[in-house]
Amino acid sequence: MTLKPNSVNVSAPGKIILSGEHAMVYGYPAVLSAIDRRLNLNLCQENDEIKIISDHPPDLAEYGIRQVTKELKVSDRQGWTAKIDSNIPPTGGMGSSAALSVAIAAALYFSTKKKLDLKEINKMAYQIETRQHRRPSGGDNTVSTYGGFLWYRKEVENLKTFSSLTLDNQMKLLIIDSGKPIESTGQMVEKVKSMMLTKPARTDKIFREIEKITRCFLQLLIGEKSYNLANLMNDNEILLEEIGVVSNRAKLLIDKIKSIGGGAKISGAGGYQAGSGIILAYHHDEAKLLNFVSQNMLKYFRVKLGCEGVKLE
Ligand code: PMV
Repeated sequence: MTLKPNSVNVSAPGKIILSGEHAMVYGYPAVLSAIDRRLNLNLCQENDEIKIISDHPPDLAEYGIRQVTKELKVSDRQGWTAKIDSNIPPTGGMGSSAALSVAIAAALYFSTKKKLDLKEINKMAYQIETRQHRRPSGGDNTVSTYGGFLWYRKEVENLKTFSSLTLDNQMKLLIIDSGKPIESTGQMVEKVKSMMLTKPARTDKIFREIEKITRCFLQLLIGEKSYNLANLMNDNEILLEEIGVVSNRAKLLIDKIKSIGGGAKISGAGGYQAGSGIILAYHHDEAKLLNFVSQNMLKYFRVKLGCEGVKLE
């Protein structure tokens, strides 16, 4: 592609959460993976205003550009045209807003500093995410920045720790669409917060159970053979249902997957009145799962896990 002067192309991946969503907002660990679905951003300087070319609502991109230019002390009289092209489904749970935040931070950072500094990019992407859903754990932007598999924990606001898990994992998952949630991530996080306020002991107990499962996922990923992926997913799902982030529609689908011997869970914030976004599904005999999705005429696709983080294209 011929680049205009001052034009930069970057891409950032979407993500799934194998275990730990919602609990991670309260400092519990999570295991996340970058996936082979990416958002591409071409950013160039022209005119003197911000112009967003995208199929999605432009407000987050516009806010992101203003926020990052302020952070980088770039004159706000400079105009930027951002062309966004993404194959991360906006259904919910795949980190499309985090990938956008990361791509904007990376493109502007590169335009001004002529290099990529992942730590700085991740920090700026987190600030953009904060506007999107007030209390983010920061896991989504971190996995989109660094890629691979991550063990992630937000200890406190100013201390977020993570380790990249280097593994050659051949885990085959299907992503099934349970329908777009009516609620935003922020609303689902607030819903869980109100349970935390009214039933603190119960909610905390569920989060501690989720943490145990997250640790089993970690063991499984680093090669411990005694864990069963389908069972871990099902155990995690039950706990997510107990905190009220799974809709009846999604529960029904997940129960059917269980009944054919598979494992399934929502991934991400979920949703409770209509769809719950994506469902991760696994069966040791994948043909059974493929048969199930085609018989039920469900929208699905395969994902590759552990993919590369933000990069220049
Ligand atoms: O926005 P989503 O659907 O990818 O979910 C993010 C995961 C939560 O734990 C629900 C929120 C967070 O900030 O970690």
